[in-house]
Amino acid sequence: MKTRVLVIYYSFTQQTHILLKHFCYGLENSGLEIQYERLQPVEPYEFPFKSDLRLANVMLKTFFKKRNEIQPVSEQCYQDWDYIVLAGPTWSYHPSGPILDFMDRYGESVLSGKKVIPFISCRSYWRIHHLTIKRMLCRCKALPMAPFVFQHPTKEPYRFIGLLLQLRGRVIRGKWFRKHYAFYGHSKAQGEEAFHYGETLGKSMVEG
Ligand SMILES: Cc1cc2nc3c(=O)[nH]c(=O)nc-3n(C[C@H](O)[C@H](O)[C@H](O)COP(=O)(O)O)c2cc1C
Repeated sequence: MKTRVLVIYYSFTQQTHILLKHFCYGLENSGLEIQYERLQPVEPYEFPFKSDLRLANVMLKTFFKKRNEIQPVSEQCYQDWDYIVLAGPTWSYHPSGPILDFMDRYGESVLSGKKVIPFISCRSYWRIHHLTIKRMLCRCKALPMAPFVFQHPTKEPYRFIGLLLQLRGRVIRGKWFRKHYAFYGHSKAQGEEAFHYGETLGKSMVEG
């Protein structure tokens, strides 16, 4: 029988989602069966944010780990999975509000006794996020595995400025800025890297 993996994820600007797709192609390439569970907030955040104040408000709330209620998860979450990938972005140093809500309300019933692989997309800071998730996983008796972490490849301060612009739906077209900041988020090379990580991990899962 095939090794079965459930991928539970939340993605706001689709960066986690894009890398996750590559990662899962890699897992599938190694012969694993994959199913996806997308976490959806009851009240999704606006995108782009309509004002700086509204953006700052969300950043502040997530800094204090404010939960964002998600819609009920589907029945498939309760099946007997061999592994679970738990993926999402870093928000104000922490896991995002929807992931925190998932952990509070479904962590124990879905993840208890399961091998869980944290998968993180961030601009640059992920360690506190990882520590928080690891603690929460241990609390609900899951078995946390080594995380996969992807940081935006552009240098600071451009990636920080670029993130704020992206979240406010703004674009700077100036050549000088574009020279330092070609795109928001992850690169194609990171997509390929994610594929190879998935393939390698998949092989090790199949071998047992
Ligand atoms: C409200 C908010 C807060 C964020 N805070 C951080 C942070 O503290 N550290 C960091 O490295 N990235 C931070 N980011 C950037 C995201 O982690 C990054 O853009 C990630 O790739 C987004 O993934 P997604 O598109 O799947 O949502 C923040 C993004 C948002 C929307």
